[in-house]
Parts: sequence; structure tokens; C-alpha cells
Amino acid sequence: MSKEKKNISLLYNGDQVDLGLKEPSIGPDVVDIKNLNSATGLYTYDPSYRSTASCESHVTYVDGKAGVLSYRGYPIEQLAQESTYLEVAYLLYNEELPTTDQLDAFRLRVKQNMVLEESVIKLFAAFPESAHPMSMLITSMASLSSIYHNKVDIKDPQGREEFFFQVLGKMPMLAATILNHTNKKAVGSYDESLNYSANILNLFFGGNPSYEINPVFSKALDLLLILHADHEQNCSTSSVRLTGSSGTNPYAAMSAGAAALWGPLHGGANEAVVKMFDQIDSKERIKHFIEKAKDKNDPFKLMGFGHGVYKNYDPRAAIIRESCHQVLDELGGKNNSKFELALALEKIALNDKYFIDRNLYPNVDFYSGIIYQALGLPKEMFTVMFALARIVGWATHWCEMMANPNLRIGRPRQLYLGPKPRSYIPLDQR
Ligand code: CMC
Repeated sequence: MSKEKKNISLLYNGDQVDLGLKEPSIGPDVVDIKNLNSATGLYTYDPSYRSTASCESHVTYVDGKAGVLSYRGYPIEQLAQESTYLEVAYLLYNEELPTTDQLDAFRLRVKQNMVLEESVIKLFAAFPESAHPMSMLITSMASLSSIYHNKVDIKDPQGREEFFFQVLGKMPMLAATILNHTNKKAVGSYDESLNYSANILNLFFGGNPSYEINPVFSKALDLLLILHADHEQNCSTSSVRLTGSSGTNPYAAMSAGAAALWGPLHGGANEAVVKMFDQIDSKERIKHFIEKAKDKNDPFKLMGFGHGVYKNYDPRAAIIRESCHQVLDELGGKNNSKFELALALEKIALNDKYFIDRNLYPNVDFYSGIIYQALGLPKEMFTVMFALARIVGWATHWCEMMANPNLRIGRPRQLYLGPKPRSYIPLDQR
């Protein structure tokens, strides 16, 4: 529970209304307005929730002005440097870093859940060849509710934990099946001798007997998974929480998260960024596209730039940019031109008054596609890769929310600007 501080007061129609002030462990104080309506009849207006804390959470902290991100208090830079995705997944869910035995048990439980039911696999036969991978993810994730509806006891901590491991295990299987549907290649298998990220690559590409896992690639993938694992109350996580607050099936809530993630302003930006690089094509054309991005009459935006919270360099983008060097070196120069274009674009934008004045910096999606492409993934799979990592964040937030004994269904209000009450006019009199 958060600490209550002294009150903050609001003057309304000459009356003083006392509101609570909550003190976070770090970050700005939070005005508690939950009783404002019952005390005054007023609502607050905050259309894209930029001033609203929608819940109490202990998972992830973002300081957008300083460009700081931490999971359970650990700086993202340290986790990226020292940790692995499964260790981070353990940390996010269990609040503490694991011992070796705890991590082994966690890994085993995820692995035991890496199965997909036949009925879900059959579902893929119904998708057109051209189906977008995210549309297949949203549908196949939701379809798991058809199998697990009465089997997940969302009121019971153990039931929620079972769901957590199930969805963590099934997500890579869904991603591999989606890729397989897209590129018509066989899904590989789980290999006990490999770590988690090498196993993902093996599931994706190991169906080809000549495929060899490059440790530089599996390390880069693991890094991307760590960096995308959680990001507090972003659009998709808030969608999971709001959907889940009705008590719906958690697979349906995860599917809602995936639906929110798909948009190009959120996780869909990683696909849009690489498409933008293709469109820009050469360094000589960058200035033209920068001008387009600045033109309010032009719908073109610099994809992978700007953030709803970060008004500073996104710490994840800085780490991914470094990783690009290692991955591209390993490829011996292949794909370098796209990375060079990206670096040149960043440099020009960061020296342009428009971007400086608005604090627009590269975000997590600016460089990630260059690595995904180097790993051999088609552009349309990039947002599925985001979801593959973020599933642990969604499931952790869902579990945290469901464990709250005071949870109520999420129900925002509105500033109604429609017609005032009026009388119905029969059809023949209109
Ligand atoms: N290109 C050009 N102008 C921009 C951009 C951009 N990428 N981003 C913001 N602006 C402008 C915006 O038009 C506004 O201008 P003005 O003040 O003149 O009206 C100003 O910068 C401030 O925008 P904002 O209020 O900070 O932006 P927002 O919070 O409404 O939107 C955003 C945040 C991420 C949706 C937006 O920056 C954007 O569309 N970026 C491109 C898409 C993208 O990369 N999305 C990934 C986000 S990070 C990962 C994730 O969330 O999954």
C-alpha cells in the first residue's frame, strides 16, 4: 500500500474539498481523487491519461524526464548487461532476483508449458496466406480461452500462477507457429541443451536442418527480450488491466493487450520504422523526410521517434543501438546500409530545432528492427517479437491487479458534449 501524506485541498464553489496525497517509493506525489465525485459531483478531465495514475504498482518505474527505466528497482542498463530474459521474467513476476535453483525451477516450468493444443494449431489453416502475424497472434491468443476458460481459477493465487506459466510457455510456440504460417517453413523443436533465446531461434528456424544458431544472435535476441519485457502502464498493459478488471478470461485480456500493441504508435512502430527506412532509401533523401515529419499538413511522422513519457533519450534505444554494431559486425557488413541510414537520420533529427524543442528522441522501436531483420525475421513479425517479450509484463500486471482485494471494474467517465434530452419524433413526422 502507498503511504498517505498530508491532504491537498481544492476550492470549489467557495467550499474546501480535502483530497488525499499519496507518496510513491520514488517519483512525484499522486493526488487521490477517487472520492472527488462523491464529495463534489465533479469529474476530472484527462483524455489520454497523461496526468492519471490508474493503479498502484510495484513492478516497473519510468522517469521520462531523466530517461530512467528500472524493473523492481534494478536499472535496465544493469539487467541488460548482466541478466537473461528468463531471470528478468522471474524478477518481474516474483519481485526478487532468483537463486540458481529458483531460476532452474522457473525455466523448467516455462519449458513444461511450451506446448500448443492441436485445436489452436488447426486454427492457422483458416488464416489467409497473407494474414498479418499480429492478427494471427490476437486471434490465436484469444482462442486459448476456448480451451482454458473453466480451467483457470482467476480468484485463486495458484490458478493465476498456473496461467502465468502457461502463457509464458505458449507465447514462443504461438510466435513460431505464426512465423511458420508466414514463411511456409517447418517449426523447429525445443532443445534441452540451449538457453531460452537460442531455443526461440531454434523453434523459428531449426526446422531447416542446416540452420546453425549463432551465439551473437541469440544474445542479441535475449537483450531485446529483456528491454521489451515491461514498461509500466503503457497502452497495451493498460488495455490488459482494463479488460482484465471485468474478470474476463486472462487469455482474452492478453489478446486485448496484443491488439493495443499492434498500432503503429505503440509496438507496431518497429515494423513501421523499417518500412520508413526502405521508403527513405538513401542518406541524401533524409532531409526531405525530416521536412515531411515537421510539416503539420503531412501525415508522415518520424517513426521510432518520440514517446508519450520519455522526454529524453529512451534508455532502451541507446542499448539496442550498441547491440546493432555487434550483430551487424557478425554479418560481415550485410545490412549495414540500413543501420548507417538510421544513424544518419538520428543525427540530423537530434540537431533539428523541431525535434530539440519537442524533446523527440529515438525510442525502443527505432533500432530494434535492424536486429530482427538480421536474425532473419520478416518485418511483419517484429511486433510479434515485441509481444513475445512483453507477455511477461502483461501477465505480471494482470496477476498484480487480480491479487488486489479491493479491485473494482475499471470505468472511466466522460465530458459529455452531445445533445441535451429531447423528445422522440415519430418517423412519419420527421
Ligand atoms: N514525428 C514528428 N513529430 C512528432 C513525432 C514524430 N515521431 N512525435 C511527436 N511529434 C510532435 C507532435 O506532433 C507534437 O507536435 P506539436 O507540439 O507541434 O503539436 C509534439 O511532437 C509533441 O508530441 P507528444 O505530445 O510528445 O507526442 P504523444 O505523446 O502524443 O505521442 C508518440 C507519442 C510515441 C505516439 C509519438 O511520438 C509518435 O507518434 N511517434 C512515432 C511512433 C512511434 O515511434 N511509436 C513508438 C513509441 S515507443 C514504444 C511503444 O510505445 O511501444
